[in-house]
Amino acid sequence: MMAPPGDSECLHPGLAEPRTKEEWFAYVFYEPPPRPHLPPYDVYAAMDKDDAERRRLNRSRNRYHSALVLAWTPAVQHFETEITELLAANEMAPPGARLGLLIDGPPTVGKSTLVKMIGRKFEQDLREDFPERFAPDRLGAYVPVVYVSLTDQVTPKQISIAIARYLNVPTSGTKDTIDDRVLTALTACGTQLIIFDDLHFLDCSLKEGRASNDHIKFLANHAPCTIIGTGVDLEDSPLLSEGGPAGPVKRNTRGKSSPSSGPRTQTAGRFSRQELAPFALDSDTGILQWVGVINSLENALALYRHESKSLTRRHWRYLHDRTNGSIAGLHALIRRSAVRAVQQGTEAITREIMDSIVLSYAHERAYARVVELQSRSSAKSGSEQNKKPPAADGSA
Ligand SMILES: Nc1ncnc2c1ncn2[C@@H]1O[C@H](COP(=O)(O)OP(=O)(O)OP(=O)(O)O)[C@@H](O)[C@H]1O
Ligand SMILES: [Mg+2]
Repeated sequence: MMAPPGDSECLHPGLAEPRTKEEWFAYVFYEPPPRPHLPPYDVYAAMDKDDAERRRLNRSRNRYHSALVLAWTPAVQHFETEITELLAANEMAPPGARLGLLIDGPPTVGKSTLVKMIGRKFEQDLREDFPERFAPDRLGAYVPVVYVSLTDQVTPKQISIAIARYLNVPTSGTKDTIDDRVLTALTACGTQLIIFDDLHFLDCSLKEGRASNDHIKFLANHAPCTIIGTGVDLEDSPLLSEGGPAGPVKRNTRGKSSPSSGPRTQTAGRFSRQELAPFALDSDTGILQWVGVINSLENALALYRHESKSLTRRHWRYLHDRTNGSIAGLHALIRRSAVRAVQQGTEAITREIMDSIVLSYAHERAYARVVELQSRSSAKSGSEQNKKPPAADGSA
């Protein structure tokens, strides 16, 4: 793919939340640091600790490990299919109640990463299929994806301002004026997909909650786009629930559904809601999915002495205990361990190294509970720890 103008080693467009179309374009073009070329181990080991070449190599390994890889987990694949289908079904649909999707999940389960991965891929495919739409001499910018990360207690007007800022339209004036400009710009830019990240930041006060709901409904009706939202506890947000009996049906990624309380709001009639949950080891499928993610992260390591597939085959249950099945915890633990393995010279991620890393407060609390439970039934935990997982990595 063509590099963006002015790209350089010191730019990190993928690391900050994009707030404008230019930042989003930079994210679409962003490639994480490439895997560094490692000289043979004896050459590396013979280098002096203060050798500039060794320092440079390890610095580039740290950069590489700090990004590691993003995994196309089953959840990412599931939502990619859902969103692609929605986009196709909505593309030429008449104005009105176009169906959108709300992805609801606890903190750090990977919601923002997932929607950005999918939005980025959608735009990359468009760039490949319709290069003329992105030509610099095209009249007006083509912006197929709008990504807005909401800030806390956001009001309807602030949502419109955020879209206006993203599309480079003036943000002054009344809400009506800005709304009007935003709708004109969304149409002129050919925007197909609007992503609202952290929708739980909508102001939930009685008056504003209602207004936010009306505003999202207004955008869903008037903007010729598919709207995808993410958030925590969205079922209780003003988007879906006004309190009281007979509410919408929620359906999670495993296909179970259950009614919730509260009368249906107008946005509830326009959005489906699906849950994104942490990895669970309560079924063979769940174990296979978890082991598969560990495998893809472990395969990316650039360490000299790491025993291939040792995390995948031996430490998969420990990794789940440590991280509570959270992709954020897993990614952070492997990244930190890799940096430490380079710095300490062990060149392998071992149980000792992982034990020495302190993860987030939430993950450490959850792990402490697991350890307590395990110490109560140590016999059981010993046999579980050594149990062989189903082969997700192609091994027998
Ligand atoms: N598909 C993935 N592959 C690898 N790592 C991932 C993936 N998804 C998320 N992560 C890791 O988890 C971290 C947290 O993910 P993310 O910010 O997307 O979670 P979130 O659900 O949006 O959290 P919050 O609710 O706090 O906004 C990321 O910074 C990344 O390290
Ligand atoms: Mg997020």
